Amino acid sequence: MHSGRGHWASRVGFVLAAAGSAIGLGNIWKFPYITGEYGGGAFVLVYLGCIAVVGMPIMLAELLLGKLSQRDPVGAFRELEHSRSGWQLVGWLGVASAFVILSFYSVVAGWALAFFARSVMGVIAAGADPAMIGGLFSELYANPTEQIVWHAIFMGVTIAIVSGGVHKGIERWSDILMPALLMMLLGLFIYALTLDAARDGARFLFAADFSKLTPDAVLEALGHSFFTLSLGMGAMITYGSYLGRDANLVRAGTWIVILDTVIALLAGMVIFPIVFQFGMEPGAGPGLIFKTLPLAFIQMTGGQLVACVFFLLLSFAALTSAISLLEVAVAFFHDEVGLDRKVAAGGIGGIIFLLGVPSALYGSFFDFMDQISTNYMLPIGGLGIAIYTGWVLDRARAEGGLGPGVSAGLIAAWLQVLRFVTPVLVLIVFLHKIGVF
Ligand code: TRP
Repeated sequence: MHSGRGHWASRVGFVLAAAGSAIGLGNIWKFPYITGEYGGGAFVLVYLGCIAVVGMPIMLAELLLGKLSQRDPVGAFRELEHSRSGWQLVGWLGVASAFVILSFYSVVAGWALAFFARSVMGVIAAGADPAMIGGLFSELYANPTEQIVWHAIFMGVTIAIVSGGVHKGIERWSDILMPALLMMLLGLFIYALTLDAARDGARFLFAADFSKLTPDAVLEALGHSFFTLSLGMGAMITYGSYLGRDANLVRAGTWIVILDTVIALLAGMVIFPIVFQFGMEPGAGPGLIFKTLPLAFIQMTGGQLVACVFFLLLSFAALTSAISLLEVAVAFFHDEVGLDRKVAAGGIGGIIFLLGVPSALYGSFFDFMDQISTNYMLPIGGLGIAIYTGWVLDRARAEGGLGPGVSAGLIAAWLQVLRFVTPVLVLIVFLHKIGVF
């Protein structure tokens, strides 16, 4: 292990941190919405298939590259290739993606904080005026100053945690935030089960309507399986690099993927019963959480408490994801440039904050940052990681690296999927997203 480099103190701490990266706005907001739109249960089945053939293999590949190299995403390729080969461009792209994604992700996280504050202060509470509540989001959206203040607060917290280091910062806070998130979500889930519309919610989410399963839906499931697991930019390379050599990546990766999937399904089972119980529309897209849900909250007894819990859990989910995004860049500047961790976290976090300001000001800039990262940078990065691991990385290292006790058959199957199946599927999604077909 490199001197001055942190590492995870426990296996559970690592799994919670990595699951914290995966579980984010993608799970609580996007997954329920696209699942509903694309036919519920049928879509969920396809999504699970995508997790198995695209998500899981790339997850293992990223963790492996990190564990073998004990370096940041750029350093990982340098180390493994023993030279400044072109493969390190995949790492560079990942570090760049961290800047781009975190800049607008933090603005959205700021909205979650703003709505949490409105819930605590009793603005979102039973009996509030629906017209006022319906306008809350547009009001915030039209107020750059407030958005920038919350964005700054969110980045400040993220910087503070990452500054603490791998064990004392990231792992310690994941140990607190992730169980808290899970408890809050379970609490809301139990509440949702008591609603008459729990059945409608479950039907909406799980009843398999294969007629809605268009090719578009399949591609959406593929793309989302990628984003929701934080793949394609080296976040899992970075987290994997703080693992010891004896770590079992298959076991850890399976836990991360299961936690991410279960949380997404639970979020759907919280949101849809509430939406249906209070006569709302499920397909509101970006407004589902910030417009539809508050209108439901003000109709329920104890709505203020439910709103507080919901927006706090959303903020926690965003925070643990933001930590991993900042950590990718911090690891790079620490490992490759030699910057002190605290200086790197503060400096890079500050730059990312500034980069996010235009996203708070202009919706078009926000969309640009979102699209260039999700549609281009992540798929290209993921493709690079799959091809490198499947075709270029020394075969013995790839086969031996997943960990002790992993069966030879499983390793062989993983490599075959990574070589032949994953790249083709990712390429198809990429070409579709950029409009080739
Ligand atoms: N997975 C997170 C979510 O679902 C987002 C995220 C965090 C991410 N880190 C990432 C996406 C790295 C891609 C790459 O909200």
